[in-house]
Amino acid sequence: MPFIPSAHLVARKPRFRATQFAVFTIILSVIFLSASLATAQKVELSLDASKSGAKISRNLFGQFAEHLGHGIYDGIWVGPDSTIPNTRGIRNDVVAALRAIKVPDVRWPGGCFADEYHWRNGIGPQRAVTLNPNWGGVIEPNTFGTHEFMDFINQIGAEAYVSINVGSGTRHEAADWLEYMTTAQPTTLQKERAANGHSAPYKVAFLGIGNESWDCGGNMTPDYYLDQLKAYSHFVRNYNPTQQTNDQMLKIAVGPGGSGPRWTEWTDTIMKAYQNHTWSWDIDGLSMHNYTVVKWPPSFKSVGFGETEYAQILKDTLGMDSLIKEQSAIMDKYDPQKKVALVIDEWGAWYAPLPGSNPGFLVQQNSMRDAILAALNLNIFARHADRVRMANIAQMINVLQAMIITDKEKMVLTPTYYVFKMYLPFQDAAFVPVTFDAGTYQHDGITLPRVDAIAAKAADGKLWLEVTNLDPNQSAEIEVNLSGASAKSASGETLTAAKVDSVNSFDAPNTVVPKPVSTRAQGGKLTLKLEPKSVTVLSLEQ
Ligand code: AHR
Repeated sequence: MPFIPSAHLVARKPRFRATQFAVFTIILSVIFLSASLATAQKVELSLDASKSGAKISRNLFGQFAEHLGHGIYDGIWVGPDSTIPNTRGIRNDVVAALRAIKVPDVRWPGGCFADEYHWRNGIGPQRAVTLNPNWGGVIEPNTFGTHEFMDFINQIGAEAYVSINVGSGTRHEAADWLEYMTTAQPTTLQKERAANGHSAPYKVAFLGIGNESWDCGGNMTPDYYLDQLKAYSHFVRNYNPTQQTNDQMLKIAVGPGGSGPRWTEWTDTIMKAYQNHTWSWDIDGLSMHNYTVVKWPPSFKSVGFGETEYAQILKDTLGMDSLIKEQSAIMDKYDPQKKVALVIDEWGAWYAPLPGSNPGFLVQQNSMRDAILAALNLNIFARHADRVRMANIAQMINVLQAMIITDKEKMVLTPTYYVFKMYLPFQDAAFVPVTFDAGTYQHDGITLPRVDAIAAKAADGKLWLEVTNLDPNQSAEIEVNLSGASAKSASGETLTAAKVDSVNSFDAPNTVVPKPVSTRAQGGKLTLKLEPKSVTVLSLEQ
């Protein structure tokens, strides 16, 4: 992570009009999928419904929420006395939006913030007012602490991924925090938790042992971190009675932050030790952070850019695949049974701060380009689902590649949000291999695959297909060859926009929203026509 300067800081339509519009949209969409294929580039796509691979864990759709800018304060927390509708201080509009995308887990409180967070500041009636030196040097009121976080994830139906402070905290402090959160026994810490309003133990599903310990988390060498990891893994225990045999807390070690010798050495050190680990320490995951940034400091605009920047960013984001392969090869060497998950717990686009915003708050817009970027990454994760079993996009609200942007009482859902919504059928579905010749899209000396696709079988047996058309100028004609089943029709949603940098704003929140699409097989063939720069998710009806 680069140095971040710490400083400054629809009108409702009558119902009949809406219905007419919906019917019109459906008719248009059917036409879009089945007719006038003459100008589209053709791609043959084959999938065998009788074959299935690894489960695409729902945790690949996890979120990251750090005490950073307006990610927590204003984004989630407005306080019980706010005029913004809330439940115990947590925004109702944000909760409803996040419930709708079935957020599986939320990583909190950081990020770099986690390695300077002292949990006692965030409990009880009197909260310490501290500073947030990583992110603008602003005041941290600590009004959102452990209980508020647990209330929030409970409201949205997610699980807790808590990152403990290895950088500036102690083992004792972290062990106490876990006892405070999880014990059911009448200890002093349990009584304190009960006095603070929660006598029952909380569930901590995932534990992050430090964050970027090679950088903002303490600038540690791999060997030094390994020693810390062993001790924290042993002493920081989860006492929740329901998590002792089933549903055990998964411990996630700090892993690499890029490609090349520095990062392969890091992973090698941790995984080699893991191979010979004793009863007294263990890990279930190794984290990896990888932002789409092209170069540091982040200088690409998040809005008001053209096709060249579109292509450059997408090229950069596709590097996620080789990074995963590089790391997986090391992990395979020491852990061929793939017991340790590769956890991509920070990923997404990191652009230049929006003009006029506090640069320490990492405020950026979210465009159609980000929707394509999200789909490409989710597809990469799905293809590596046997090793990559968790991922957390950075970050959930108002920071970096956000799902949601708020401004006081206003809220808007981003194109990335809609991709996560469209991908819901892939949560916990079984990966089905798809083969296709992607072809190429070329612009300004940059060559990219023209299309990308994944398929999966859901628990109810339904077959789902996602196809991304990266080409911003040409539609793509997809001929689906299905073996092991027959498809009579397909229906779902597509997301596209007028421009690569189209965004949803408070004034125009429906600029980039999914619209329904469907098609029927003709002569035994299912053909889809995808709009330029689009993400499409369809169920194949047999
Ligand atoms: O997401 C912003 C920051 O990026 C996180 O705090 C840190 O872990 C990473 O460098």
